[in-house]
Amino acid sequence: MEVDPAKGNQIFSQMRALKVDYTFAYEGYINHNVYFDTVGGNGGPATGAVAKLIDEAYGSFENWVKDLKTTGVAARGWVYLAYDHDEKRVFNYIGDAQNSFPIWNHTLLLAMDVYEHAYFLDFGTARAKYIEAYLQIIDWAAVNARL
Ligand SMILES: [Fe+2]
Repeated sequence: MEVDPAKGNQIFSQMRALKVDYTFAYEGYINHNVYFDTVGGNGGPATGAVAKLIDEAYGSFENWVKDLKTTGVAARGWVYLAYDHDEKRVFNYIGDAQNSFPIWNHTLLLAMDVYEHAYFLDFGTARAKYIEAYLQIIDWAAVNARL
């Protein structure tokens, strides 16, 4: 398909579709890679440098879990634990779509998929139960390796 860049506009254009869908596809690839790279562990309390960052930012692992759960129920697509290189802290972010709300100068440490396709077969509409199960399989060594 040929895209005429001279015909670009913000309502609809091939240039817009190409650029937006490129980030949707590429970030979807990254999100799912981080998701699958950081599960398969034994969950439980965070370990290593990430545990220290979580404690500094949230006061305790339990506070972070509480925030992750409520963020996960409020999100439409993803919850990201990311390290902010400017503020030198971690934070639980919402990503409503594969390519929404990217934050510059962050390192993505953990990506929890909360699209319905991630849990509906096993948990039905009980997203909170899925998040509980997710917490039991986080691979904290893999999360630390991303830092
Ligand atoms: Fe997904």
